[in-house]
Amino acid sequence: MGRSFDKFQERNELLNNQYDKTYFDKQHKKGKLTARERILLLFDKGSFEEMDAFVPPANVSFGKSSKSMGDGVIAGFGTINGRQVCAFAQDFNVLGGSLGSAHAAKIVKIQDIALKTGTPVIGLIDSGGARIQEGVASLAGYAHIFRRNVLSSGVVPQLSAIMGPAAGGAVYSPALTDFIFMTSSTGYMFVTGPDVVKQVLNEQVTPDELGGARVHSSKSGVAHFVYNDDENTIAGIKMLLSYLPSNNIENPPFVNTDDPVDRSEELLRSIVPDDPDKPYDVRDVVNLVFDKDTFFEVAENYAPNMVVGFARLGGFVVALVANQPNVLAGALDIDASVKGARFINFCDSYNIPIITLEDVPGFLPGTDQEHDGIIRHGAKLLYAYTRATVPKITVILRKSYGGAYIVMNSKGIGGDFNFAWPSAEIAVMGPEGAIAIVNRKELAESEDPVTLKKELVKKYRDEIANPYIADEKGFIDEVIDPALTRTKIYRALKILEKKSVSLPGRKHGNTPL
Ligand code: HXC
Repeated sequence: MGRSFDKFQERNELLNNQYDKTYFDKQHKKGKLTARERILLLFDKGSFEEMDAFVPPANVSFGKSSKSMGDGVIAGFGTINGRQVCAFAQDFNVLGGSLGSAHAAKIVKIQDIALKTGTPVIGLIDSGGARIQEGVASLAGYAHIFRRNVLSSGVVPQLSAIMGPAAGGAVYSPALTDFIFMTSSTGYMFVTGPDVVKQVLNEQVTPDELGGARVHSSKSGVAHFVYNDDENTIAGIKMLLSYLPSNNIENPPFVNTDDPVDRSEELLRSIVPDDPDKPYDVRDVVNLVFDKDTFFEVAENYAPNMVVGFARLGGFVVALVANQPNVLAGALDIDASVKGARFINFCDSYNIPIITLEDVPGFLPGTDQEHDGIIRHGAKLLYAYTRATVPKITVILRKSYGGAYIVMNSKGIGGDFNFAWPSAEIAVMGPEGAIAIVNRKELAESEDPVTLKKELVKKYRDEIANPYIADEKGFIDEVIDPALTRTKIYRALKILEKKSVSLPGRKHGNTPL
């Protein structure tokens, strides 16, 4: 082999041996894998093609630099379970995974490839944010990345995993992507860290208290999935990918199932308690209706009064949006509205039909909710359901009262099929509230208001709050045997497979925010 090849080999050897044992120990001691180990775990064996491996960090006159090849990020493409995916992984061992101009340019290059080829992008984040010594060049680097994030939104799925620190600019690229994973043992995210919080507010807070996985998955709603370590986080990413199409013009992956689509489930006839105030776990309904063991919940710990996630029915991927009677009686509050809206927007972008299981007493009342903006936040859910053009099917299990009836994909806002179980209660409001208003005088004048109230509640249920009036007026399509819910949804999905609607031409709508 000639001299040119010797040089080529020499360079590759330098790259492969650029790090010694201390490099690996530093990450491993913190319970983290290195960037390359993460990439190798993410992609099918031998499929990863690295780009720009030799790019050095920019030369800066101030402070520390690094001689690393690759400038602290590994970027490239390969296959995951046989499907093409682009990815980048930041290397905390190189200047704290901070983002300099060369580092940013590598990420931008892979984002551009993903966008023009319709390929999902995954970012494995482990970074101290904008590289301080590169100044404005690193800020500009983030700007270019953010712009690609926004241009790719709704075109290719973008996933982020926070596997170490994500500080400053490092949080906003993930925030613009579709789903955020966090590794609970090592991941944290904040715009300004504990030191700044101490300086500005004189507040003492640990990184974990400020922006750990628990906070972001249950309180802020920033993170959608939490796993205890790098291996499980990467397994979670692969699981999510299995439900997603590669881009907005593909359908999500179909897999054959041996679970019959006409499976009847008699248990469903008794799953809703006779007592309308008694809770139950809507996930029990989900597990009986959809293909066995396919439900993959999203944002499980945030706004648990609304359950959202992916599942399969007859092998087709569907999105599930369900009120959870076990938490706040399933009432819609601000967090649940925002959670549902964002999930619906995602599914609508990526051709995933939306199945709604409804049991909702209404919007959550109270000054906190009103003052924090339940009007504009609830409007997000209404807007998202109404705008979505994917197949939309609702099954009303029990309560469907007031504004919540309309919001949860009623026919009037564009629901394709609305079914109701015999236990459904569809009305302007629940019996207690309705009687207190309509029969106020009679109750005040009655000698036995308790008995009268009982009679009126029964009369209200018999004559108003049931599914049959809505059925006879065509506001729902059918009152169904709960045991046949799976078959009914499947058949509706089949006719809707060819659904085609277009929205009025416009630059974009003005989504309530
Ligand atoms: C340059 C950085 C860096 C940064 C860390 N390092 N962050 N170098 N720019 N932003 C370097 C450190 O100097 C150190 O180098 C090495 O990375 C490891 O950092 P440590 O502090 O020793 O690690 P640790 O104790 O684990 O703390 C991690 C950390 C902390 C919490 C991320 O490093 C930190 O607070 N960094 C700064 C975060 C930040 O404020 N970033 C800028 C945000 S502004 P040596 O050589 O000592 O090993 C921003 C603007 C964009 O991002 C905003 C867009 C909206």
